[in-house]
Amino acid sequence: MKGVTIFTEMSALAQKHNAVNLSQGFPDFELDPALGNYLKEGFETAYNQYAPMPGLPLLQQSIAQRVQQKYKVQLTTQHITVTPGATYGIYCSFASFLKPGDEVIILEPAYDSYAPNVKAFGGKVIRVPLDTETFKVNWNKVAQSKTAKTKALIINTPHNPTGTIWSPSDYEALKEIVRDTDIRIISDEVYDHLSFEDNSHYSILQDEELFSRSYVVFSFGKVLQATGWKIGFVACPPSITNEFRKAHQYIGFSVNSISQYAIAKFLQGNHQLDALSSSFQAKRDLLLDEFAHLPFTIPFKSLGSYFQLVSFKGLSTLSDRAFAIELTQKAKVASIPLSPFYQEEKDTQMLRFCFAKNDATIKEAAHNLTTYFGA
Ligand SMILES: Cc1ncc(COP(=O)(O)O)c(C=O)c1O
Repeated sequence: MKGVTIFTEMSALAQKHNAVNLSQGFPDFELDPALGNYLKEGFETAYNQYAPMPGLPLLQQSIAQRVQQKYKVQLTTQHITVTPGATYGIYCSFASFLKPGDEVIILEPAYDSYAPNVKAFGGKVIRVPLDTETFKVNWNKVAQSKTAKTKALIINTPHNPTGTIWSPSDYEALKEIVRDTDIRIISDEVYDHLSFEDNSHYSILQDEELFSRSYVVFSFGKVLQATGWKIGFVACPPSITNEFRKAHQYIGFSVNSISQYAIAKFLQGNHQLDALSSSFQAKRDLLLDEFAHLPFTIPFKSLGSYFQLVSFKGLSTLSDRAFAIELTQKAKVASIPLSPFYQEEKDTQMLRFCFAKNDATIKEAAHNLTTYFGA
């Protein structure tokens, strides 16, 4: 296992060099004050002791209502387990079924917790690269990587780090792969509220055939712009939920009750979660406008998530990691190199910039880069 993650490394470097931090995926803007008011209300109405293991019923019900509104799918408390964040939800999913020697297919580049989680339970990671230009799934390669030992496949759309999203044909191809097998799907949908240009997010929840074998993982950190709260939920069919909770009860047991209360009340109110995609699309567009005259190439516009990829091919011969460090130290803008999202640290000369920031932060980053490049 590596020492510290690239996110920790780049955020620390940004702090050390007083650089604008567009590296780690967290917003720098104020939370909706209603959330703070509900926290206070939770404190005052005694939501301060252990919550029930599966989650506060009030929050489970609010989640079910929200899922019904957004996805037109009816979930019950038997489907929903509240978790201390999505990273935990993914770990706990693996903990609930993975046995030594089981194979898990991971599409690379991938969020960095997946592979260490699989290995923690003696599983074998089978890496399938996404297309190097479009970052779309190569389903032939996935099919070729499937064996009798394949136990699970982990997917992520909208995708960190590339900002790509799945199309209907991807879901059809996935069905072909898993049909007549007992392969589980872990669907990391933490950016479900952030998909751009009329691409409303399609959830595995909406496909009965796929959902019947799935752990669908969500993060309130990403939806409410409160990543530090570390709270999310995992939705599964009831039989899988039972297995999930057997692991959860001995790993985390439950999630802090006061934030569960606050989020439940917040979800019940009319707080414009549906406007998130358009406000984040505006941030993506601001970053693209501000970066337009810089000597980077934009391979494609992000269609979801907090992130935009840029390429520096032809601009520097440094590795992506070295170039990201140089930009942090000299241009005073921190980003994340793409290579750590690959097990073999494959260098595609691309950087990931986070646009979940105040407009002023994005403009300051562009200003610093303009000065550095003399653009
Ligand atoms: C794809 C992906 N999955 C999971 C997470 C983690 O979510 P949480 O903070 O709720 O653990 C992140 C955070 O950056 C992410 O990008």
